[in-house]
Amino acid sequence: MEEIREALSTHWESPWEMDRWQVINHIIDRYSFERYLEIGVSNPRWCYNMISCREKDGVDPGYEFQPNIANYQMTSDEFFESIPSDKKWDVIFIDGSHVAGQVIKDFFNALNHLSDNGFIILHDCNPPNVWRQRETYMIDGRPWPWNGTVWKMFYYLRMTHTDLSMCCLDTDYGVGIVRRGSQMLAPADNIFYDYNQFDKNRKEYLNLIQPSELDRWLSENEQHLTII
Ligand SMILES: C[S@@+](CC[C@H](N)C(=O)[O-])C[C@H]1O[C@@H](n2cnc3c(N)ncnc32)[C@H](O)[C@@H]1O
Repeated sequence: MEEIREALSTHWESPWEMDRWQVINHIIDRYSFERYLEIGVSNPRWCYNMISCREKDGVDPGYEFQPNIANYQMTSDEFFESIPSDKKWDVIFIDGSHVAGQVIKDFFNALNHLSDNGFIILHDCNPPNVWRQRETYMIDGRPWPWNGTVWKMFYYLRMTHTDLSMCCLDTDYGVGIVRRGSQMLAPADNIFYDYNQFDKNRKEYLNLIQPSELDRWLSENEQHLTII
């Protein structure tokens, strides 16, 4: 309990200049996007309802919050197995399971359903302390604040995928932004995904940038847009 109390005292140490939904709306607005998908909706007042987009879809099996308003009430795996292969969205927000192995599955499934110039946004990429990046949501049968191991899959993509453009906004526990493009890879010097090493190198591992740098980053990464 002492450990939890100590960890909770640093619960709000994530910078918070922009909420995740503000980042998503900014991108939708900048590119006049029309189709939005959220994996993991929970309480729609936190994000889903705040999104301004012509077409919105949500996926959630309803593990954490009722009433479940998602129009696809199932897991992300079941969802991606059930939709037509040519169905596309412009922005896909991944915020379901926070366990790296599942998030990476969600990511590649999402990439298959992303429009040419679309974006994948991931929440919880920048945990502020070791406790918040634990493997499990529950401790002694109850949920506690949790970012999970999303950072590990984000760092993995940063180390391995030259065909993606990636950055992470230093706000709201790390809002990861990914699109097709190119990037200089992060150093592959943390093969055991050690948190302490991540903590010292998070700027480079995540390509962590400030919200004030978002528009510059978007402009710099537009050269790969498909012109039809
Ligand atoms: C952190 S909450 C989502 C919060 C919301 N996106 C927001 O921004 O406030 C995570 C949600 O993901 C759902 N979830 C967990 N595992 C999932 C899975 N495999 N597929 C889809 N949703 C999942 C849970 O039921 C929960 O409602």
